[in-house]
Amino acid sequence: MRFSSVLPLAFACSAVAVVIPSPKAAWPYGPLVTDGRWIRNTKNEVVTPVGVNWPGHGEAMIPEGLQYASINKVLKDIKSLNLNIIRLTFSIQMIDEIYSKGNDTTVKESFLKALGTTNGTAIYKKFLQKNPQFDDTTTRLQVFDAVAAEALKQEIYVHLDNHISRAEWCCGETDGNAWFGDTYFNVANWKRGLAYMADHGKAWPALVSLGLRNEPRNATNNPTISKTYNWETWYKNMIPAANGVNAANPGLLIYFSGLNYDTTLAPITTGANLGSGTVFRKSDFPYSNKLVLELHNYQTTATTCPSITNGLYNGGYNALNATDPKVKNVLPVVMTEWGHDMSNNEYKGVYQTCLDSYLGGLKAGWMFWEVGGSYYTRQGKQDFDETWALFNHDWTNWRQKASAESIKEMAKRTLAGTKKL
Ligand SMILES: *[C@@H]1O[C@H](CO)[C@@H](O)[C@H](O)[C@H]1NC(C)=O
Ligand SMILES: *[C@@H]1O[C@H](CO)[C@@H](O)[C@H](O)[C@H]1NC(C)=O
Ligand SMILES: *[C@@H]1O[C@H](CO)[C@@H](O)[C@H](O)[C@H]1NC(C)=O
Ligand SMILES: *[C@@H]1O[C@H](CO)[C@@H](O)[C@H](O)[C@H]1NC(C)=O
Repeated sequence: MRFSSVLPLAFACSAVAVVIPSPKAAWPYGPLVTDGRWIRNTKNEVVTPVGVNWPGHGEAMIPEGLQYASINKVLKDIKSLNLNIIRLTFSIQMIDEIYSKGNDTTVKESFLKALGTTNGTAIYKKFLQKNPQFDDTTTRLQVFDAVAAEALKQEIYVHLDNHISRAEWCCGETDGNAWFGDTYFNVANWKRGLAYMADHGKAWPALVSLGLRNEPRNATNNPTISKTYNWETWYKNMIPAANGVNAANPGLLIYFSGLNYDTTLAPITTGANLGSGTVFRKSDFPYSNKLVLELHNYQTTATTCPSITNGLYNGGYNALNATDPKVKNVLPVVMTEWGHDMSNNEYKGVYQTCLDSYLGGLKAGWMFWEVGGSYYTRQGKQDFDETWALFNHDWTNWRQKASAESIKEMAKRTLAGTKKL
């Protein structure tokens, strides 16, 4: 289904969308392209994505927190921390349901289904109170549309991330979403869902990039599928998925995540044999200036910085280093997830200070996990409290001011002097 058939409501009432200027003439000065290890806009400035994750892939399939805060407030607060991008996560199930029903599901129906009639009704009422532009006809995708429209107003880039297939908390090796062909990871539906969102996102000027799949990992409880857990299978699936996204929306940067929960892209950067002679060569892509690598790091208990950075370099950050003779594919690398408990003093510890100096030194982008202080529901618990969040439980204030300030300062350091590089 094309986006035009599900889009009209949110956009009909949005002044922003109606007056979309020629993309090159205004922010975000897209489409963005890569140039060696850098990402550039149409003004030839370096764009370094520095931001935060905003999950929308949970059971309700609606960006989290909107029963507590307006879209406008969430983005304003994000912006106040010097952050320039949101990683907006979605599940393939949302698109599967659009195809099977012939229409997107309303927010109301979705809350009731995810939270039960009593709690779903109560949460939906709060959602409308905080976000009165919506009503009973508003669908889930129209909420994503509204986030993207507000992001444009506030000049915050949007990065779409396919986080999982079945809408639920991610990620485990036994959750059925681990690897291509796993119980809930239908490859054809995944590719269809990616292309759908890429196409739909053409109506979102703030959308600059899309991540193909969050944290590929071994499906250890699935003997048939775990046999195929290797780089060659990764390549065979990721390349056609990327081709589909590029065909649907040639403007997007496409992010590739690696094995072991996206902690390594080692054979991609060095152009090693992935199996049967398959090799990742940037030059093989007709859209080679659209490829970006993404890595995650959660070594929160590290006691020394080199124990983090040595692994990062060999795991994929070497792609930033054109003078390293082992590196065959020079590409931008963005740490699309890292994070820790924000309710205590962890922000002062080895882990954050190390990433701060390493990524700041490299001038490499990152996205903190995550913005919201609670989930509609997570792992069977409604209104689940998230201590690894910028916001407190009810999204009214920072969870701890000093933790949030440290993110603001880190963003400032990463971004310092980058535009003119
Ligand atoms: C799909 O949604 C639109 C807009 O909300 C509505 O007008 C239409 O009747 C719906 N179609 C179906 C098949 O439910
Ligand atoms: C509904 O919400 C209440 C708190 O408002 C909570 O105690 C209860 O567990 C929720 N119901 C379900 C089914 O999760
Ligand atoms: C994947 O998991 C299976 C089942 O536990 C295991 O036998 C296999 O060695 C794992 N593959 C890799 C590459 O770790
Ligand atoms: C890049 O690679 C060169 C050659 O191996 C090495 O000397 C240099 O330290 C590397 N730079 C970084 C920032 O790692």
